[in-house]
Amino acid sequence: MRTKTNSGRTPLDEKLDSFRKQGYIVPPKNIIKNEKQIEAIKKSAKINTAILDYIAANIREGMTTLEIDELVYLFTKGQGATPAPLNYQGFPKSVCVSVNHEVCHGIPDKDRVLKSGDIVNVDVSTIYHGYFSDASRMFQIGEVSEEAKKLVEVAKECMEKGIEQVKPWGLLGDIGAAINDHAKANGYSVVREIGGHGVGLAFHEDPYVSHVSKAGTGMLLVPGMIFTIEPMVNMGTARVKEDRKNGWTIYTADGKLSAQWESMILVTETGYEILTQ
Ligand code: MF3
Ligand code: CO
Repeated sequence: MRTKTNSGRTPLDEKLDSFRKQGYIVPPKNIIKNEKQIEAIKKSAKINTAILDYIAANIREGMTTLEIDELVYLFTKGQGATPAPLNYQGFPKSVCVSVNHEVCHGIPDKDRVLKSGDIVNVDVSTIYHGYFSDASRMFQIGEVSEEAKKLVEVAKECMEKGIEQVKPWGLLGDIGAAINDHAKANGYSVVREIGGHGVGLAFHEDPYVSHVSKAGTGMLLVPGMIFTIEPMVNMGTARVKEDRKNGWTIYTADGKLSAQWESMILVTETGYEILTQ
């Protein structure tokens, strides 16, 4: 039998309350994961990484984006897992594949052939025993121009600089500030309308992670929170437009290149852990 103490409040509850009283935006308890949940989410993330490694080993010039979808579907099923995008809010495929000026949510297509010079984002999300994971990488096909290469590299650095801002009792807004500063310093822009998200118990949870936020603002970061950092970095304008026909794919408004990297980050007692590498 359990004895009821102090209406069941923990030291963490007390700490969160004290931050709340000081005016901080405190995360709801349901996005702070416990040990068991973290272990289960890590297993899902491990499979997600294996899928990306498998695509890295197999992606090549002349392949269609639908072939990538088939590889993701079969590999994921082979791991006893499910592709999270498949039928998610009507998304028709198992993975997002976004080429060149496609910013995100590209739909695999039998007529879309990868050619030399393309830069490609493959965004993989996995459900394993009910737990969600999400990460993406860029791939360069054949001979890629120097300017496209640089965009891909700086986009990765932007993600890394965002990740370095993650610390317990820090603020969410510091992440997007570091990302946006680094993109701007390189002459690029960051997409404002789409951000990262809490993940683990569902595909998309709170908080929304802006990649253009202001330092010293936003939600308090608490150990046990898990969210993605996934900046979309554009060569030209930050503005984007949505595909009117398929209702999913986002393009740069000026048709210039865009690059994105995505990782899943756990806030720990001492800093952070990247769950998708
Ligand atoms: N991985 C994408 C994200 O970051 C998934 C978009 S939803 C989908 O949230 F249905 F298009 F997969
Ligand atoms: Co995501």
